[in-house]
Amino acid sequence: MAIQPTNIEHPVTSVDIIVSKGNEAGDVTYANPIFFKLAGYTPGELLDRPHSIIRHPDMPKIIFKFLWDRLKNGQDVFAFVKNISKDGGFYWVLAHVRVANNPDGSFRNYVSTRRAMSANARKVIEPLYNQLKEAENIGGMSASFEILEAFIKESGGSFDTFNDTMKKIQNS
Ligand SMILES: Cc1cc2nc3c(=O)[nH]c(=O)nc-3n(C[C@H](O)[C@H](O)[C@H](O)COP(=O)(O)O)c2cc1C
Repeated sequence: MAIQPTNIEHPVTSVDIIVSKGNEAGDVTYANPIFFKLAGYTPGELLDRPHSIIRHPDMPKIIFKFLWDRLKNGQDVFAFVKNISKDGGFYWVLAHVRVANNPDGSFRNYVSTRRAMSANARKVIEPLYNQLKEAENIGGMSASFEILEAFIKESGGSFDTFNDTMKKIQNS
């Protein structure tokens, strides 16, 4: 059964570094204590389970599509993510997700390192994601893609420079 979202925000402090690793399917293979603490689950409840357990229903699909397209292409991605905790509360982060390879070049895992989202980024990203979500509800991911593309262009970037645009928003 899906968790009922609440408006309770779990604070992420500026020193928190929230780490998890995933296999090719996106299942959690490792996470650090602060990851479990914020998510509100024990390691036993999350390990070997999909990362989507903490997917917040407010998150637009297009962001995860973009994230996976980049990862499958061997590229890293910086993305703002709103996660849901076991108690229905939420927390916002700026995630840096990348592919880690073994010394022989074979796939090892995906690694996500998350930090607190800045207050300025929140002001920009929350309304954008609301717009993306609304567009998706009506016109699917092709509709939200257009809005995301227009936003990136207005921010002076392109999908190729997506990471820089997100970092600029974080530090604005
Ligand atoms: C290393 C790694 C970390 C991830 N972290 C999150 C996360 O914190 N929150 C989240 O909703 N999805 C995260 N994802 C993406 C999920 O795998 C999934 O694509 C997303 O939750 C959307 O769910 P869906 O694909 O079932 O729609 C992560 C994926 C990887 C590979």
